[in-house]
Amino acid sequence: MKLRNIGVIGAGAMGSGIAQVSAVAGYNVVLQDVYSDALLRARVSIEKSLSKLVSKEKMAKADMDAALDRIQFTTALKDACKDADLVIEAVFENLELKHNMFRKLEELCKKEAILGTNTSALPITEIASVTNCGDKIIGIHFMNPVPLMKGVEIISGQLTSDENRKTVIDYVRKLGKEPIEAVDFAGFIVSRLLDVLLNETIKLVQEGNKPEDIDKAMELCAGHPMGPCRLLDLVGAEIAMHGMEIMERDFGDGYKPHPLLKKRVLAGLLGRKTGRGFYEY
Ligand code: CAA
Repeated sequence: MKLRNIGVIGAGAMGSGIAQVSAVAGYNVVLQDVYSDALLRARVSIEKSLSKLVSKEKMAKADMDAALDRIQFTTALKDACKDADLVIEAVFENLELKHNMFRKLEELCKKEAILGTNTSALPITEIASVTNCGDKIIGIHFMNPVPLMKGVEIISGQLTSDENRKTVIDYVRKLGKEPIEAVDFAGFIVSRLLDVLLNETIKLVQEGNKPEDIDKAMELCAGHPMGPCRLLDLVGAEIAMHGMEIMERDFGDGYKPHPLLKKRVLAGLLGRKTGRGFYEY
């Protein structure tokens, strides 16, 4: 199927990044969120990100303006669904919420539309289990920050059709990104490894290591582009915690989120999005 229109559900950091890269690649995008202030913030962050790319001469100003013109912002879910050939859901990482969303997407979208989820850890087959359209549902897991990260995990559920899988792989390539196929178990490849690293980082902090030293160690000794404390601040402590909870549920105690991680989430020390994590923003 040829994709033209993309609906993106949820205008947080991931949803707005997905809307941005899709519009830059020439797709018409409708970005939906129930909160109009989230849409306003998304617009500002997309403009800021595109302006940065223009100032670095990675994009022409005319292309930036054209990309912005291709994005519509709406609070109405049906507006993001009605013409969409592909919908990508990027709402909060909660199974019940995703189940409700996919029931609605099944009802509101065209019969042939592909329904993608940007979940970072929930199995795709489990998300699809409340619908009658498992063949259309697929994981399209973008990385943060979306405009800069080259890889996208593609996860087929038990019923995802091969045709839809191929269409999504083509879409990811058209964004200038590299699709990586992962098997449908909690956490896939990236969260399975990264969340464990981030959880272990919390233990190092509790044992008395300074975040600056942990970051310096992993940047200078292990070649990581950013140390795990900076990374946890970028990703959001609650995202890593939810990832661990899903993996603990499916794989057992080895994936238990550290109590200090939970405490930091409760205290609102989520990272960049709350202005405070291991560092201040
Ligand atoms: N749009 C455009 N430009 C951006 C941007 C954005 N969204 N975000 C950052 N930039 C710019 C910065 O402003 C900076 O510009 P200047 O050079 O003009 O200052 C430039 O990109 C480089 O940024 P940094 O100075 O911070 O330098 P960096 O070399 O560390 O690169 C990075 C940033 C690409 C994010 C790199 O640090 C990196 O790869 N970090 C690891 C990120 C990662 O692992 N992401 C995956 C997390 S897991 C996930 O996302 C899955 C999940 O579900 C939880």
